[in-house]
Amino acid sequence: NGSASKAGKSRNILEKMQESGKNCVVFYGSQTGTAEDYASRLAKEGSSRFGLKTMTADLEEYDYDNFDQFPEDHVAVFVLATYGEGEPTDNAVEFYEFIGGDDVSFSEKGGPDGEPLGGLKYVAFGLGNNTYEHYNSMVRNVTKYLDRLGAKRIGEPGEGDDGAGTMEEDFLAWKEPMWTALADTMNLEEREAVYEPVFEVTEKPDLSPEDDTVYVGEPNKNHLEGASKGPYNAHNPYIAPIAESRELFNDKSRNCLHMEVDISGSNLSYTTGDHIAVWPTNPGREVERFLRVLGLEDRRHTVISVKGLDATAKVPFPTPTTYEAVVRYHMEIGAAVSRQFVSSLAQFAPNDEIKAEMNRIGGDKDVFAEKVSSQHYNLAQFLESFSQSWDKIPFSMMIEGLHKLQPRYYSISSSSLAQKKQISITAVVASVAVENSPNIVLGVTTNYLLALKQKQHGDPDPDPHGLEYAITGPRNKYDGIHVPVHVRHSNFKLPSDPAKPIIMVGPGSGVAPFRGFVQERAQLAKNGETVGKTILFFGCRNEAEDFIYKEQWEQWKQDLGDQFEIVTAFSRDGPQKVYVQHRLKEKAEEVNKLLEQKAYFYVCGDAANMARDVNETLSQLISDQRGVSKQKGEEIVKSMRAANQYQEDVWS
Ligand code: 2AM
Repeated sequence: NGSASKAGKSRNILEKMQESGKNCVVFYGSQTGTAEDYASRLAKEGSSRFGLKTMTADLEEYDYDNFDQFPEDHVAVFVLATYGEGEPTDNAVEFYEFIGGDDVSFSEKGGPDGEPLGGLKYVAFGLGNNTYEHYNSMVRNVTKYLDRLGAKRIGEPGEGDDGAGTMEEDFLAWKEPMWTALADTMNLEEREAVYEPVFEVTEKPDLSPEDDTVYVGEPNKNHLEGASKGPYNAHNPYIAPIAESRELFNDKSRNCLHMEVDISGSNLSYTTGDHIAVWPTNPGREVERFLRVLGLEDRRHTVISVKGLDATAKVPFPTPTTYEAVVRYHMEIGAAVSRQFVSSLAQFAPNDEIKAEMNRIGGDKDVFAEKVSSQHYNLAQFLESFSQSWDKIPFSMMIEGLHKLQPRYYSISSSSLAQKKQISITAVVASVAVENSPNIVLGVTTNYLLALKQKQHGDPDPDPHGLEYAITGPRNKYDGIHVPVHVRHSNFKLPSDPAKPIIMVGPGSGVAPFRGFVQERAQLAKNGETVGKTILFFGCRNEAEDFIYKEQWEQWKQDLGDQFEIVTAFSRDGPQKVYVQHRLKEKAEEVNKLLEQKAYFYVCGDAANMARDVNETLSQLISDQRGVSKQKGEEIVKSMRAANQYQEDVWS
């Protein structure tokens, strides 16, 4: 039926809701998937607890000019992440410009003058990070705009703070009173939560995992079969050979990897300062635990097909596939379990006693913190702590409740001028012991890279944590050492004029992009270009253990001469902690002089503490050196940021 399929692609949200019998739409503005995930959770909860007919909607996929026609018995939810320096996420740009525009106009005039959105009832939650200046500006501005247009807000807008690490609890704390207010406004009765699957999982005994039509976790099936050319992007990685891998630390208890990824067989390109995405695989140890707890061990290779039960549900991986492929390659099974998920799983507990305990833990923030968060349990570890067998949990609930396994981004540590088709990665392998617990939190991707490196070298102790990563990949389609990657372009860039001075601050693996910057400038010097002053502030624990790339800095110094200077801060070599910002202060006069010559200033690494401290130090330094007030110093740094003279590549 031609018209129905056309209508299915409609950008008209009201039409879409009417067609699929929905009365609640949860819009999301999401960059990395967290807002989208919260949106799905709200949609599910609205339907299971209150019988709302919910759907989620990517803001980018709809038009907004009929918002004035929103039926009285409908409600809209906005889950909005603030990105970068107070910007909307890419998928929310259009909506933001429309709703905040001076001449916002609607296709039909619903509601009285000045209140075109008088019929629109809405609630809103924002995701932000208080280490950025424009904290949660997206949700703040959108609610302001909606209110100005007469929309009827239900309850208080929520604000989650990633900077303080309280996002999840902020969300949980916001949503309870929100549901009460919403139920009140919409005349809804709360009922005992019943699980309503969004996906249907069907076992296919007639299919075998050997069949060509079955996906067994190939990150890019076409490519492995020689049929795909790219473009390689966030939906389609390139399976790249690892040309080289080595350990950078001399410290036996910690690892830092240097890897060279060969992109010469692809049409991928990068420029210095970009990011590389690495597509991880879950470790065998956790895959086994997960399959065991869910009673799927014997059915791991059973072929399943998964489909959405209504038109708005998107299956997050290709099917038909197998249980094991989904668990190993597509679900974030290693992430810390969330309190809400614990509550929703209680109904599938093996007995009433466990059910009661799950409800108690899920229902109380403090109990949850004590029993679960403090242990950093992932889902299967948590379930295992009660019982070995949870075979009543439907697999569809796992697909809905766990995040999709996401690629992780690393700042590229090479220069595209010096090595156009070989990308370097510099990554500290995440391995953090949990206090008062035998548990160790192991980074999924960095440990996967470590396993690849150890495999490549045939290291005698190839798997210190017993993680058992599957190295060769599904169906052994890529033997040898390969890793699925794509490139993300960034705005963290060297000045186009190489004669301009630059100051870089990058402690620890924050030095990664600066290795690329220095390599690039060394290459430029070799090519006969005039290169400006290039200062790198680098910090680590000890000169002997984690001073990475020591020989390389010296080698590049040969090319750059006095124009290159590396200033080190070894925090644990002396009686007192010395950090990069202390060195910055010692060099205040020179730093200020260079800034006055319009030097670019770069910071890379830890967002929460280091980047903030460096920012603070720089304002103080400017105020001291120029004899202006502290406030003026801060304003100068702010204007440097606005002019791109101060650039950050930071993570938390
Ligand atoms: P520490 O671990 O000894 O405290 C790379 O991680 C380097 O950054 C380490 O030497 C670490 O020191 C240091 N570091 C930790 N916190 C910092 C901060 N707030 N500012 C700058 N450097 C910091």
